[in-house]
Amino acid sequence: MKVLVVGGGGREHALAWKMAQSPKVQAVYVAPGNGGTALDSRLENIAITDVQALRGWAQSEKIALTVVGPEQPLAAGIVDEFRAHGLRVFGPTRAAAQLESSKAFSKAFMKRHGIPTADYESFSDPLAAHAYVERKGAPIVVKADGLAAGKGVVVAMSLAEAHQAIDFMLAPETGANPLGVTHNAGGARVVIEEFLQGEEASFIVMCDGKNVTALATSQDHKRLLDGDAGPNTGGMGAYSPAPVVTPQIHARAMREIILPTIKGMAQDGIPFTGFLYAGLMIDAQGQPKTLEFNCRMGDPETQPIMMRLKSDLFDVMMAATSGQLDQIELDWDRRPALGVVMAAHGYPLNPRKGDLVTGLPSLDSLKQANAMVFHAGTVTPPPGQGGKGEVLSAGGRVLCVTALGHTVKEAQKRAYEIADGIIFAGAQFRTDIGFRAIKS
Ligand code: AMP
Ligand code: GLY
Repeated sequence: MKVLVVGGGGREHALAWKMAQSPKVQAVYVAPGNGGTALDSRLENIAITDVQALRGWAQSEKIALTVVGPEQPLAAGIVDEFRAHGLRVFGPTRAAAQLESSKAFSKAFMKRHGIPTADYESFSDPLAAHAYVERKGAPIVVKADGLAAGKGVVVAMSLAEAHQAIDFMLAPETGANPLGVTHNAGGARVVIEEFLQGEEASFIVMCDGKNVTALATSQDHKRLLDGDAGPNTGGMGAYSPAPVVTPQIHARAMREIILPTIKGMAQDGIPFTGFLYAGLMIDAQGQPKTLEFNCRMGDPETQPIMMRLKSDLFDVMMAATSGQLDQIELDWDRRPALGVVMAAHGYPLNPRKGDLVTGLPSLDSLKQANAMVFHAGTVTPPPGQGGKGEVLSAGGRVLCVTALGHTVKEAQKRAYEIADGIIFAGAQFRTDIGFRAIKS
Protein backbone atom coordinates (compact mmCIF):
# COMPACT_ATOMS: atom_id res chain seq x y z
CA MET A 1 0.00 0.00 0.00
CA LYS A 2 1.04 3.58 -0.61
CA VAL A 3 0.54 6.17 2.09
CA LEU A 4 0.70 9.96 1.93
CA VAL A 5 1.53 12.17 4.91
CA VAL A 6 0.66 15.83 4.35
CA GLY A 7 2.95 18.39 5.96
CA GLY A 8 6.62 19.11 6.45
CA GLY A 9 7.32 19.47 10.15
CA GLY A 10 8.65 17.28 12.93
CA ARG A 11 5.18 15.87 13.53
CA GLU A 12 4.95 14.71 9.91
CA HIS A 13 8.44 13.22 9.98
CA ALA A 14 7.41 11.22 13.06
CA LEU A 15 4.14 10.05 11.47
CA ALA A 16 5.91 9.05 8.24
CA TRP A 17 8.74 7.32 10.15
CA LYS A 18 6.20 5.28 12.10
CA MET A 19 4.06 4.54 9.04
CA ALA A 20 7.11 3.21 7.16
CA GLN A 21 7.57 0.56 9.88
CA SER A 22 4.33 -1.17 8.87
CA PRO A 23 4.91 -4.35 6.83
CA LYS A 24 1.78 -3.46 4.85
CA VAL A 25 3.19 -0.17 3.62
CA GLN A 26 5.37 -0.20 0.51
CA ALA A 27 5.86 3.53 0.09
CA VAL A 28 5.40 6.61 2.25
CA TYR A 29 5.24 9.97 0.50
CA VAL A 30 5.50 13.22 2.43
CA ALA A 31 4.16 16.45 0.93
CA PRO A 32 6.20 18.60 1.03
CA GLY A 33 8.38 16.88 3.67
CA ASN A 34 11.72 18.23 4.89
CA GLY A 35 15.43 17.42 4.93
CA GLY A 36 14.91 14.50 7.29
CA THR A 37 12.25 12.81 5.19
CA ALA A 38 14.44 13.44 2.12
CA LEU A 39 17.41 11.61 3.68
CA ASP A 40 15.42 8.53 4.81
CA SER A 41 15.45 6.02 1.95
CA ARG A 42 12.04 4.65 3.01
CA LEU A 43 10.36 8.03 2.59
CA GLU A 44 9.91 10.20 -0.49
CA ASN A 45 9.16 13.91 -0.62
CA ILE A 46 6.52 15.25 -3.01
CA ALA A 47 6.80 18.95 -3.82
CA ILE A 48 3.07 19.66 -4.05
CA THR A 49 1.24 21.84 -1.51
CA ASP A 50 -1.85 22.94 -3.46
CA VAL A 51 -4.78 20.88 -2.17
CA GLN A 52 -6.39 20.14 -5.55
CA ALA A 53 -3.10 19.32 -7.20
CA LEU A 54 -2.22 16.98 -4.33
CA ARG A 55 -5.60 15.26 -4.62
CA GLY A 56 -5.01 14.73 -8.35
CA TRP A 57 -1.56 13.30 -7.64
CA ALA A 58 -2.94 10.99 -4.92
CA GLN A 59 -5.56 9.67 -7.36
CA SER A 60 -3.03 9.01 -10.09
CA GLU A 61 -0.64 7.29 -7.64
CA LYS A 62 -3.46 5.22 -6.13
CA ILE A 63 -2.66 6.35 -2.60
CA ALA A 64 -4.49 4.01 -0.19
CA LEU A 65 -4.45 6.32 2.83
CA THR A 66 -3.66 9.96 3.52
CA VAL A 67 -2.91 11.40 6.95
CA VAL A 68 -2.90 15.17 7.36
CA GLY A 69 -0.51 16.69 9.91
CA PRO A 70 -0.92 20.48 10.06
CA GLU A 71 -3.93 22.70 10.59
CA GLN A 72 -3.60 24.88 7.47
CA PRO A 73 -4.55 22.22 4.87
CA LEU A 74 -7.35 21.01 7.18
CA ALA A 75 -8.75 24.53 7.49
CA ALA A 76 -8.42 24.81 3.71
CA GLY A 77 -10.68 21.75 3.27
CA ILE A 78 -8.19 19.06 2.19
CA VAL A 79 -10.31 16.32 3.79
CA ASP A 80 -13.46 17.49 1.97
CA GLU A 81 -11.52 17.56 -1.32
CA PHE A 82 -9.99 14.09 -0.92
CA ARG A 83 -13.24 12.51 0.26
CA ALA A 84 -15.23 14.08 -2.57
CA HIS A 85 -12.97 12.14 -4.95
CA GLY A 86 -13.24 8.85 -3.07
CA LEU A 87 -9.84 9.00 -1.39
CA ARG A 88 -9.39 7.64 2.13
CA VAL A 89 -8.09 10.37 4.41
CA PHE A 90 -7.78 10.83 8.17
CA GLY A 91 -8.57 14.31 9.46
CA PRO A 92 -11.48 16.68 10.11
CA THR A 93 -13.49 18.43 7.41
CA ARG A 94 -13.08 22.16 6.94
CA ALA A 95 -16.22 22.77 9.03
CA ALA A 96 -15.00 20.56 11.88
CA ALA A 97 -11.52 22.12 11.75
CA GLN A 98 -13.09 25.38 12.92
CA LEU A 99 -12.68 24.00 16.44
CA GLU A 100 -9.08 25.10 15.94
CA SER A 101 -9.17 27.62 13.11
CA SER A 102 -11.56 30.00 14.89
CA LYS A 103 -11.23 30.75 18.60
CA ALA A 104 -14.63 32.49 18.43
CA PHE A 105 -16.22 29.31 17.00
CA SER A 106 -14.62 27.00 19.56
CA LYS A 107 -15.39 29.24 22.54
CA ALA A 108 -19.05 29.58 21.47
CA PHE A 109 -19.21 25.81 20.90
CA MET A 110 -17.87 25.11 24.40
CA LYS A 111 -20.27 27.58 26.00
CA ARG A 112 -23.23 26.06 24.11
CA HIS A 113 -22.33 22.49 25.14
CA GLY A 114 -21.25 23.19 28.73
CA ILE A 115 -17.62 22.16 28.18
CA PRO A 116 -15.35 23.61 30.89
CA THR A 117 -13.20 26.47 29.64
CA ALA A 118 -12.16 29.98 30.72
CA ASP A 119 -14.92 32.63 30.74
CA TYR A 120 -14.56 34.92 27.77
CA GLU A 121 -15.96 37.57 25.46
CA SER A 122 -15.16 38.08 21.80
CA PHE A 123 -14.59 41.54 20.26
CA SER A 124 -13.95 43.27 16.97
CA ASP A 125 -14.43 46.80 18.38
CA PRO A 126 -11.22 47.96 20.12
CA LEU A 127 -13.07 50.41 22.43
CA ALA A 128 -15.34 47.66 23.74
CA ALA A 129 -12.33 45.37 24.19
CA HIS A 130 -10.39 48.02 26.14
CA ALA A 131 -13.43 48.70 28.35
CA TYR A 132 -13.82 44.95 29.01
CA VAL A 133 -10.26 44.48 30.26
CA GLU A 134 -10.60 47.62 32.46
CA ARG A 135 -13.66 46.01 34.02
CA LYS A 136 -12.06 42.56 34.44
CA GLY A 137 -8.56 43.60 35.52
CA ALA A 138 -5.28 41.71 35.07
CA PRO A 139 -3.97 39.07 34.69
CA ILE A 140 -6.07 38.43 31.61
CA VAL A 141 -5.54 36.62 28.30
CA VAL A 142 -5.90 38.19 24.85
CA LYS A 143 -6.07 35.87 21.81
CA ALA A 144 -6.16 36.69 18.11
CA ASP A 145 -8.92 34.79 16.28
CA GLY A 146 -7.65 32.46 13.58
CA LEU A 147 -4.60 30.25 13.20
CA ALA A 148 -1.46 31.63 14.75
CA ALA A 149 0.86 28.66 15.32
CA GLY A 150 0.66 29.10 19.08
CA LYS A 151 1.91 32.66 18.81
CA GLY A 152 -1.35 34.67 18.75
CA VAL A 153 -1.85 34.58 22.52
CA VAL A 154 -0.80 37.19 25.06
CA VAL A 155 -1.04 36.27 28.72
CA ALA A 156 -1.13 39.84 30.05
CA MET A 157 0.07 40.16 33.62
CA SER A 158 -0.78 43.91 33.65
CA LEU A 159 -3.59 46.02 32.20
CA ALA A 160 -1.03 47.95 30.13
CA GLU A 161 0.06 44.73 28.43
CA ALA A 162 -3.56 43.78 27.77
CA HIS A 163 -4.33 47.17 26.17
CA GLN A 164 -1.22 46.94 24.03
CA ALA A 165 -2.18 43.42 22.86
CA ILE A 166 -5.66 44.61 21.88
CA ASP A 167 -4.21 47.53 19.93
CA PHE A 168 -1.84 45.28 18.10
CA MET A 169 -4.29 42.50 17.31
CA LEU A 170 -7.23 44.69 16.31
CA ALA A 171 -5.24 47.29 14.39
CA PRO A 172 -2.18 45.45 13.15
CA GLU A 173 -1.51 47.89 10.33
CA THR A 174 -0.87 50.76 12.75
CA GLY A 175 1.79 49.12 14.65
CA ALA A 176 5.11 47.79 15.29
CA ASN A 177 4.84 44.48 17.05
CA PRO A 178 5.36 45.49 20.65
CA LEU A 179 4.68 42.10 22.17
CA GLY A 180 6.34 39.82 19.71
CA VAL A 181 3.06 38.12 18.82
CA THR A 182 2.46 37.06 15.27
CA HIS A 183 -0.63 38.58 13.74
CA ASN A 184 -2.47 36.31 11.41
CA ALA A 185 -4.96 36.38 8.60
CA GLY A 186 -7.67 35.33 11.07
CA GLY A 187 -8.25 39.06 11.08
CA ALA A 188 -9.48 41.70 13.34
CA ARG A 189 -11.19 39.77 16.06
CA VAL A 190 -9.97 38.95 19.55
CA VAL A 191 -11.12 36.64 22.28
CA ILE A 192 -10.42 37.96 25.79
CA GLU A 193 -10.54 35.38 28.51
CA GLU A 194 -10.10 34.68 32.17
CA PHE A 195 -6.56 33.79 33.27
CA LEU A 196 -6.39 30.16 34.41
CA GLN A 197 -3.79 28.80 36.77
CA GLY A 198 -2.51 25.27 37.02
CA GLU A 199 -0.47 22.78 35.04
CA GLU A 200 -0.94 22.24 31.32
CA ALA A 201 -1.21 18.92 29.50
CA SER A 202 -1.94 17.86 25.95
CA PHE A 203 -4.86 15.46 25.74
CA ILE A 204 -4.99 13.90 22.28
CA VAL A 205 -7.56 11.42 20.98
CA MET A 206 -8.46 9.86 17.65
CA CYS A 207 -12.07 9.96 16.46
CA ASP A 208 -13.68 8.06 13.62
CA GLY A 209 -16.97 9.95 13.81
CA LYS A 210 -18.44 7.79 16.58
CA ASN A 211 -15.67 6.03 18.50
CA VAL A 212 -12.91 7.75 20.45
CA THR A 213 -9.50 6.34 21.40
CA ALA A 214 -7.14 8.30 23.61
CA LEU A 215 -3.46 8.43 22.71
CA ALA A 216 -0.77 8.26 25.39
CA THR A 217 -0.72 11.46 27.43
CA SER A 218 1.88 14.11 26.78
CA GLN A 219 2.97 17.57 27.75
CA ASP A 220 4.90 20.19 25.84
CA HIS A 221 6.87 23.25 26.87
CA LYS A 222 5.48 26.28 25.06
CA ARG A 223 7.86 28.94 26.37
CA LEU A 224 11.17 29.64 24.66
CA LEU A 225 13.40 29.68 27.73
CA ASP A 226 14.33 27.45 30.65
CA GLY A 227 11.98 27.50 33.62
CA ASP A 228 9.01 28.06 31.26
CA ALA A 229 10.01 31.71 30.79
CA GLY A 230 10.12 33.94 27.73
CA PRO A 231 7.72 34.19 24.80
CA ASN A 232 5.25 31.50 23.69
CA THR A 233 6.41 29.32 20.80
CA GLY A 234 4.95 26.41 18.86
CA GLY A 235 6.62 24.16 21.47
CA MET A 236 10.26 23.72 22.55
CA GLY A 237 10.06 20.11 23.65
CA ALA A 238 7.64 17.46 24.88
CA TYR A 239 7.42 14.18 26.69
CA SER A 240 5.05 11.27 27.14
CA PRO A 241 3.46 10.22 29.42
CA ALA A 242 2.49 13.33 31.40
CA PRO A 243 2.36 12.45 35.13
CA VAL A 244 0.01 15.40 35.74
CA VAL A 245 -2.71 13.44 33.92
CA THR A 246 -3.55 10.95 36.64
CA PRO A 247 -6.12 8.22 35.91
CA GLN A 248 -8.74 10.40 37.68
CA ILE A 249 -7.94 13.44 35.56
CA HIS A 250 -7.85 11.26 32.45
CA ALA A 251 -11.35 10.01 33.21
CA ARG A 252 -12.61 13.54 33.91
CA ALA A 253 -11.10 14.92 30.70
CA MET A 254 -12.76 12.17 28.68
CA ARG A 255 -16.11 12.55 30.45
CA GLU A 256 -16.28 16.33 30.78
CA ILE A 257 -14.41 17.52 27.69
CA ILE A 258 -13.71 14.98 24.95
CA LEU A 259 -16.95 12.99 24.81
CA PRO A 260 -19.24 16.06 25.07
CA THR A 261 -17.20 17.67 22.28
CA ILE A 262 -17.58 14.71 19.92
CA LYS A 263 -21.28 14.44 20.80
CA GLY A 264 -21.80 18.19 20.48
CA MET A 265 -20.16 18.34 17.07
CA ALA A 266 -22.35 15.47 15.85
CA GLN A 267 -25.45 17.22 17.27
CA ASP A 268 -24.45 20.42 15.50
CA GLY A 269 -24.27 18.48 12.23
CA ILE A 270 -20.47 18.64 12.00
CA PRO A 271 -19.27 15.15 12.93
CA PHE A 272 -15.62 15.13 13.97
CA THR A 273 -13.12 12.72 12.45
CA GLY A 274 -9.38 12.97 12.96
CA PHE A 275 -7.09 13.79 15.84
CA LEU A 276 -8.63 16.02 18.48
CA TYR A 277 -6.17 17.71 20.78
CA ALA A 278 -7.47 19.46 23.86
CA GLY A 279 -4.95 21.75 25.52
CA LEU A 280 -5.85 21.37 29.19
CA MET A 281 -5.18 23.52 32.22
CA ILE A 282 -5.51 21.37 35.34
CA ASP A 283 -6.06 23.30 38.57
CA ALA A 284 -5.00 22.40 42.10
CA GLN A 285 -8.34 20.61 42.66
CA GLY A 286 -7.77 18.39 39.62
CA GLN A 287 -10.39 20.12 37.50
CA PRO A 288 -9.39 20.12 33.82
CA LYS A 289 -10.44 23.10 31.68
CA THR A 290 -9.98 23.48 27.94
CA LEU A 291 -7.46 26.15 26.94
CA GLU A 292 -7.88 25.41 23.26
CA PHE A 293 -8.76 22.73 20.77
CA ASN A 294 -6.51 21.65 17.96
CA CYS A 295 -7.91 19.45 15.23
CA ARG A 296 -4.60 17.67 14.64
CA MET A 297 -1.79 16.11 16.62
CA GLY A 298 0.57 18.32 18.57
CA ASP A 299 4.02 19.25 17.39
CA PRO A 300 6.34 18.32 19.18
CA GLU A 301 4.06 15.99 21.21
CA THR A 302 3.73 13.62 18.24
CA GLN A 303 7.46 12.88 18.28
CA PRO A 304 7.60 11.26 21.77
CA ILE A 305 4.13 9.74 21.27
CA MET A 306 5.19 7.99 18.03
CA MET A 307 8.38 6.73 19.74
CA ARG A 308 6.14 5.01 22.28
CA LEU A 309 3.50 3.60 19.91
CA LYS A 310 4.00 -0.13 19.40
CA SER A 311 0.84 -0.75 17.35
CA ASP A 312 1.01 -0.69 13.55
CA LEU A 313 0.06 2.89 12.64
CA PHE A 314 -1.26 1.83 9.25
CA ASP A 315 -3.72 -0.63 10.84
CA VAL A 316 -4.78 2.03 13.34
CA MET A 317 -5.41 4.58 10.58
CA MET A 318 -7.30 2.09 8.43
CA ALA A 319 -9.60 1.38 11.38
CA ALA A 320 -9.95 5.09 12.09
CA THR A 321 -11.04 5.77 8.50
CA SER A 322 -13.60 2.93 8.46
CA GLY A 323 -15.49 3.79 11.66
CA GLN A 324 -13.84 0.83 13.42
CA LEU A 325 -11.69 2.43 16.08
CA ASP A 326 -13.58 0.33 18.63
CA GLN A 327 -11.76 -2.70 17.16
CA ILE A 328 -8.35 -1.23 18.01
CA GLU A 329 -6.43 -1.33 21.26
CA LEU A 330 -3.39 0.91 21.12
CA ASP A 331 -0.24 -0.70 22.46
CA TRP A 332 2.31 1.60 24.12
CA ASP A 333 5.91 1.17 25.14
CA ARG A 334 5.90 1.55 28.91
CA ARG A 335 9.09 3.58 28.78
CA PRO A 336 8.75 7.36 28.67
CA ALA A 337 9.96 9.32 25.65
CA LEU A 338 11.20 12.88 25.57
CA GLY A 339 11.94 15.25 22.70
CA VAL A 340 14.11 18.38 22.72
CA VAL A 341 13.48 20.96 20.00
CA MET A 342 16.52 22.65 18.49
CA ALA A 343 15.35 25.98 17.07
CA ALA A 344 16.94 28.46 14.70
CA HIS A 345 18.66 31.69 15.61
CA GLY A 346 15.98 34.36 16.04
CA TYR A 347 13.08 31.93 16.68
CA PRO A 348 10.19 32.65 17.30
CA LEU A 349 10.17 36.18 15.88
CA ASN A 350 12.62 36.07 12.96
CA PRO A 351 14.10 32.64 12.47
CA ARG A 352 17.21 32.62 10.31
CA LYS A 353 17.41 30.10 7.50
CA GLY A 354 20.33 28.51 5.69
CA ASP A 355 22.58 27.45 8.58
CA LEU A 356 24.51 24.25 7.91
CA VAL A 357 23.53 21.44 10.31
CA THR A 358 26.35 19.02 11.14
CA GLY A 359 26.85 16.13 13.54
CA LEU A 360 23.57 14.38 12.72
CA PRO A 361 23.86 10.75 13.84
CA SER A 362 23.10 7.97 11.33
CA LEU A 363 19.64 6.38 11.36
CA ASP A 364 21.23 3.07 12.39
CA SER A 365 23.04 4.53 15.38
CA LEU A 366 19.86 6.30 16.47
CA LYS A 367 17.91 3.06 16.28
CA GLN A 368 20.55 1.37 18.44
CA ALA A 369 20.19 4.17 20.99
CA ASN A 370 16.35 4.02 21.03
CA ALA A 371 16.37 7.57 19.74
CA MET A 372 15.47 9.52 16.64
CA VAL A 373 16.21 12.98 15.31
CA PHE A 374 12.98 14.19 13.73
CA HIS A 375 13.54 17.04 11.31
CA ALA A 376 11.25 20.06 11.05
CA GLY A 377 12.64 23.20 9.39
CA THR A 378 15.39 21.58 7.33
CA VAL A 379 16.12 21.07 3.63
CA THR A 380 18.66 19.13 1.65
CA PRO A 381 20.19 21.30 -1.07
CA PRO A 382 19.03 20.55 -4.63
CA PRO A 383 21.23 18.17 -6.67
CA GLY A 384 24.43 19.84 -7.80
CA GLN A 385 24.34 22.39 -4.98
CA GLY A 386 25.96 21.64 -1.66
CA GLY A 387 27.43 18.33 -0.54
CA LYS A 388 25.68 14.96 -0.59
CA GLY A 389 23.61 14.44 2.54
CA GLU A 390 24.07 18.08 3.52
CA VAL A 391 21.30 19.56 5.68
CA LEU A 392 20.46 23.26 6.00
CA SER A 393 18.09 24.93 8.43
CA ALA A 394 14.94 26.24 6.75
CA GLY A 395 12.51 27.22 9.49
CA GLY A 396 11.98 28.16 13.13
CA ARG A 397 12.01 24.77 14.74
CA VAL A 398 14.81 22.85 13.06
CA LEU A 399 15.00 19.44 14.77
CA CYS A 400 13.40 17.49 17.58
CA VAL A 401 15.83 15.09 19.22
CA THR A 402 13.73 12.34 20.80
CA ALA A 403 14.72 9.40 22.99
CA LEU A 404 13.17 6.62 25.04
CA GLY A 405 14.49 5.85 28.52
CA HIS A 406 13.54 3.72 31.48
CA THR A 407 12.78 6.94 33.33
CA VAL A 408 12.05 10.47 32.11
CA LYS A 409 15.44 11.45 33.47
CA GLU A 410 17.18 8.81 31.39
CA ALA A 411 15.22 9.77 28.27
CA GLN A 412 16.17 13.38 28.93
CA LYS A 413 19.85 12.51 29.36
CA ARG A 414 19.94 10.54 26.09
CA ALA A 415 18.15 13.24 24.13
CA TYR A 416 20.55 15.91 25.40
CA GLU A 417 23.62 13.78 24.70
CA ILE A 418 22.54 13.53 21.07
CA ALA A 419 21.48 17.19 20.85
CA ASP A 420 24.87 18.28 22.21
CA GLY A 421 26.57 16.60 19.27
CA ILE A 422 24.46 18.38 16.64
CA ILE A 423 25.82 21.73 15.58
CA PHE A 424 24.38 24.68 13.66
CA ALA A 425 25.07 28.37 14.05
CA GLY A 426 22.71 30.10 16.47
CA ALA A 427 20.99 26.91 17.65
CA GLN A 428 18.68 27.55 20.59
CA PHE A 429 17.35 24.82 22.82
CA ARG A 430 16.11 24.55 26.36
CA THR A 431 18.17 22.56 28.83
CA ASP A 432 15.29 21.55 31.12
CA ILE A 433 12.69 19.76 28.98
CA GLY A 434 10.72 17.40 31.22
CA PHE A 435 11.63 19.10 34.51
CA ARG A 436 8.07 18.95 35.85
CA ALA A 437 7.81 15.22 35.15
CA ILE A 438 11.20 14.61 36.77
CA LYS A 439 10.19 16.66 39.82
CA SER A 440 6.99 14.65 40.29
P1 AMP B 1 -3.55 28.61 23.20
O1 AMP B 1 -2.97 28.76 21.84
O2 AMP B 1 -4.91 29.14 23.34
O3 AMP B 1 -3.37 27.23 23.78
O4 AMP B 1 -2.60 29.47 24.14
C1 AMP B 1 -1.19 29.29 24.15
C2 AMP B 1 -0.69 29.25 25.57
O5 AMP B 1 -1.08 30.43 26.27
C3 AMP B 1 -1.26 28.11 26.37
O6 AMP B 1 -0.55 26.92 26.19
C4 AMP B 1 -1.13 28.65 27.79
O7 AMP B 1 0.20 28.51 28.24
C5 AMP B 1 -1.41 30.11 27.62
N1 AMP B 1 -2.84 30.38 27.85
C6 AMP B 1 -3.83 30.38 26.93
N2 AMP B 1 -5.02 30.64 27.49
C7 AMP B 1 -4.78 30.83 28.80
C8 AMP B 1 -5.62 31.15 29.93
N3 AMP B 1 -6.94 31.35 29.79
N4 AMP B 1 -5.04 31.25 31.14
C9 AMP B 1 -3.71 31.07 31.29
N5 AMP B 1 -2.87 30.79 30.28
C10 AMP B 1 -3.39 30.66 29.04
N1 GLY C 1 2.65 21.83 20.79
C1 GLY C 1 1.49 22.60 20.65
C2 GLY C 1 0.77 22.43 19.41
O1 GLY C 1 1.04 21.56 18.59
O2 GLY C 1 -0.18 23.17 19.19
